[in-house]
Amino acid sequence: MEKITLIATAKFGLEKLVKNEVVALGFENPLVSEGRIEFEAALADIPRANIELRYSDRVLLKMAEFPATTFDDLFEQAKALPWENWITRDGKFTVNAKTIKSTLQSDRSCQSIVKKAVVERLKEAFNVEWLEETGADFTIQVTVRKDIALLTLDTSGAGLHKRGYRLQAGEAPLTETLAAALVKLSFWEKDRLLIDPMCGAGTILIEAAMMMRNIAPGLHREFASESWPAIPREAWIAAHQAAEAAIDRSGSLQIQGYDIDEHAIAAAKANAERVGVADDIVFAQKDIKDLWIDRQYGILISNPPYGMRMYDYRDINQIYISLNKMFKKKTGWSIYILTADKKFPDYFKRAWPDRKRKLYNGNIEVTYYQYYGERPLREDADTRDQASN
Ligand SMILES: C[S@@+](CC[C@H](N)C(=O)[O-])C[C@H]1O[C@@H](n2cnc3c(N)ncnc32)[C@H](O)[C@@H]1O
Repeated sequence: MEKITLIATAKFGLEKLVKNEVVALGFENPLVSEGRIEFEAALADIPRANIELRYSDRVLLKMAEFPATTFDDLFEQAKALPWENWITRDGKFTVNAKTIKSTLQSDRSCQSIVKKAVVERLKEAFNVEWLEETGADFTIQVTVRKDIALLTLDTSGAGLHKRGYRLQAGEAPLTETLAAALVKLSFWEKDRLLIDPMCGAGTILIEAAMMMRNIAPGLHREFASESWPAIPREAWIAAHQAAEAAIDRSGSLQIQGYDIDEHAIAAAKANAERVGVADDIVFAQKDIKDLWIDRQYGILISNPPYGMRMYDYRDINQIYISLNKMFKKKTGWSIYILTADKKFPDYFKRAWPDRKRKLYNGNIEVTYYQYYGERPLREDADTRDQASN
């Protein structure tokens, strides 16, 4: 079977998670660099990677990587590539370009040079004078970093964070890929209580439930490469069937989400319904100051308002006071807070964070503060207690 090279892109700080999931999908020896996990694959792996990858932003097909310090280099090498193996005679293609610390500095010029090269190549390959560009969509990404040009075709289309379930979002929602990563980094397990007391549209909890139910993140959406004739339809069908068959509905989950905003809670419920995890999560409207936790053990993952966007500092202070009051003495709880507020550890007095991770929510630099709780004894990991008011 013909080998291709795929690149799963990763947000800053999430490369290792993406690498691990690439390996878990059966791809060997992936190469990891900043924001990018590169691996050898077969054609039929394009559907699988797109449907299954949970923490990656996009799956790119690598066309070539070469040194380029002049526009001639870029043009000739781009033109030498077999674009006609992928882009159809009527294919509509867009070129995006970005240059970073390189001799070639103009994104626009790189974009138009590569567009011209691909047009020339396709006209010759299809023996036509004119490309109609009325058919399937193709996006070529050109990145010139430190004088090395990387040319890829985007197989995903919309970013992989668009799972298709979040038609309604609250204020300042987290991207789904980041929310999934927060859950993965928390060591939450199926038999443990997970709560998000400021859950907004429920993204963290919905991603958690999908993960535990083994619901593939891309099961409910389409991908740009689904309309590429180069990828056999059967490969998409097989990848969908395998993902459906892997869903695990056994046992029950203990997941609870609260928010002060009733519209956010309504959105969270609708989102959970759409992806098939509504029965796994209890959502209710509640101000964090009215939340009462009587469980000894549990996991809390949340991203409170940052202040700069939505709330003033008195509201945020009140939230921190509530968190502190509730969890200062509950050493059996692991607390995970994602915030842009660097002062958070000064307010949460239980301990100093066991770990801090710098991440990005969109363009905003945020920190994931991780406070590890004691692990429950086996007999404590039951479902007797409730987090209630
Ligand atoms: C940054 S947003 C969380 C977004 C969420 N992670 C998502 O992906 O949709 C912060 C949330 O905190 C909620 N909130 C603010 N003050 C609150 C309070 N006192 N109690 C509970 N929730 C509160 C807001 O309504 C908002 O939905």
